[in-house]
Amino acid sequence: MALRGVRIAGAARYAPERIVTNEDFERWLDTSDEWITVRTGMKRRHWASENEATSDLAIAAARGALAQAGVRADEIDCFIVATATPDYLFPATACIMAAKLGAVGKAAFDLSIACSGFIYGLTVAAGLVRSGIYRRVLLVGAETLSKITNKQDRSTAILFGDGAGAVVLEASERDCFLAAELGADGTTPSTLFQEAGGSRHPVDHAAIDAGLQYIQMEGREVFKFAVTSMIGATDIALGRAGLTRHDISFLIPHQANRRIIDAAVKYLELPRERVLINIQEYGNTSSASIPMALAEAVDEGRLRDGDVVLFVGFGAGLSWGAVVWRWSAVGPQQEHA
Ligand code: ACO
Repeated sequence: MALRGVRIAGAARYAPERIVTNEDFERWLDTSDEWITVRTGMKRRHWASENEATSDLAIAAARGALAQAGVRADEIDCFIVATATPDYLFPATACIMAAKLGAVGKAAFDLSIACSGFIYGLTVAAGLVRSGIYRRVLLVGAETLSKITNKQDRSTAILFGDGAGAVVLEASERDCFLAAELGADGTTPSTLFQEAGGSRHPVDHAAIDAGLQYIQMEGREVFKFAVTSMIGATDIALGRAGLTRHDISFLIPHQANRRIIDAAVKYLELPRERVLINIQEYGNTSSASIPMALAEAVDEGRLRDGDVVLFVGFGAGLSWGAVVWRWSAVGPQQEHA
């Protein structure tokens, strides 16, 4: 099949209404606004209500992206949800989302690679369009991490938030996908994992008593890995695109910790105004964090046609990835694809 180009035609985000501030945690945890702010850069995060599942967040973001792209749900050929917190282990959250959006009969699947989900998803989705297999793909990074976080564990409870970010990818004469680098090292899954709930350790009373249904993390190990992997992936992806760090118009990193972003940005010698950070408002929303930051930048009109946008992330696996993207204006297609 002939290769052709791909562009992002629409981007939107959604966060649940309930906001949990650093001060809120002071009421039940031995922590402080100062500790959380200094160590993570986070001030608030949004948590889903009891009645809200990941697909509900995904659908809200997807509707916004479809509207911006000027595309109906039944004009999408393939729906992908990148998530570590699906509605169910099966069926895929993407199937539920597509049906509720009014598109039945199209391809739909989930992509599970934790916080690297949007980067992997963008690479897969762009490949599906560029190869000519599909004309339009809807990709959503969506999470309800609050549902798998132990609210009594101060080392993880403060970090995670809920949200969704969606993009509509569409075939286009101009190719906006410039290069990608993806990687994984699964030698120590317990560095960051949800131990119970899968086939290794099905949920039973003992698992629940031990709290194995919650996120467990070796924070310092993840921190070191995060900085190294973000820098490495950035350099490799830029090299593949035939670009250098100086060509980056905007860096949109996974929002896991402000200090992780700052360390990577320092090494990359990027001016602060070229780095998009919204961790103070949403905390770590895993696969949703990058598309949420992207949608925010689009809303604010920060991205200009021709800008080089570098998406970079890391997460459980351990896994990492970077995508170099040439920005083109969102909205309905002007040219003939
Ligand atoms: N409030 C107050 N004190 C705390 C808190 C808290 N919320 N959490 C931990 N502490 C304490 C620790 O108990 C420790 O006390 P001690 O010295 O008496 O033992 C002290 O603070 C320092 O703990 P560290 O773990 O060394 O703190 P650090 O500066 O490394 O910050 C953090 C911890 C924020 C978790 C950091 O390591 C980090 O961000 N790591 C990366 C996490 C990450 O990116 N995870 C997401 C990956 S993406 C995915 O796939 C989900």
